[in-house]
Amino acid sequence: MPGIETILSPALFHLYEEELEQKNVVVIDILRATTTICVAFANGAREILPVAKPEDAAAMQQLGWIAAAERHGETVEGFDLGNSPQDYTEARVSGQKIALTTTNGTRALQMSSAAKHVWVGSFLNIKALCDQLREDNSDLLLFCAGWKDKFNLEDTVFAGAVAEMLADKFTVLDDATLAAMDLYKKAQPDLNTYLQKASHVNRFKSLHIETDLDVCLKIATLNVLPEFKNGTIQNRQHA
Ligand code: MLT
Repeated sequence: MPGIETILSPALFHLYEEELEQKNVVVIDILRATTTICVAFANGAREILPVAKPEDAAAMQQLGWIAAAERHGETVEGFDLGNSPQDYTEARVSGQKIALTTTNGTRALQMSSAAKHVWVGSFLNIKALCDQLREDNSDLLLFCAGWKDKFNLEDTVFAGAVAEMLADKFTVLDDATLAAMDLYKKAQPDLNTYLQKASHVNRFKSLHIETDLDVCLKIATLNVLPEFKNGTIQNRQHA
């Protein structure tokens, strides 16, 4: 059976890079980058290019791309789109290519580029994601983007949800995954209530964007499977 491990923060990523090219990575940034990416593809986006800096996103506008930038949970000044999934409507993104930079999620994607496959994971596409992971007998790394290299609750709860869904197919190889599974079991009866204590949810409240949490917790509602490959993200699953 293939093995599953959980990277609880980008600061620990270097400990898991051995034989990365033979492993699948799921990049997790529930609030909100990987959720937003899934919503964008569900609403017809053609491609999403994760870039390091806002100016890199702005430069792509010359080529007809939409530029989106978030820092510290807020839309960067001068950008029409930040990182709220609610802003990636069909009217706004259908048929479009989007250059996106966020505080944590896009950086985690770029860190994972050497992996066999890099999948974008969110509660919204958890079924499509786990169906795909079942098909591949490769070892799996669940990579929590966290907050500025720190552990966060929401990404780890999601990692636990995936590990739980795949428990019949994968051997849990580390305590981080066991902890994530325990956290998910504790949160699962009511994710929204459990995550009210999360630091990023409290950041949302101060920014008056708490409704994003409801959107980010709509479990298995999107049949999309975004993959980060050759520096860009495209949807590998079509409804
Ligand atoms: C991120 O990608 O860093 C997070 O999703 C931040 C956010 O969107 O609030």
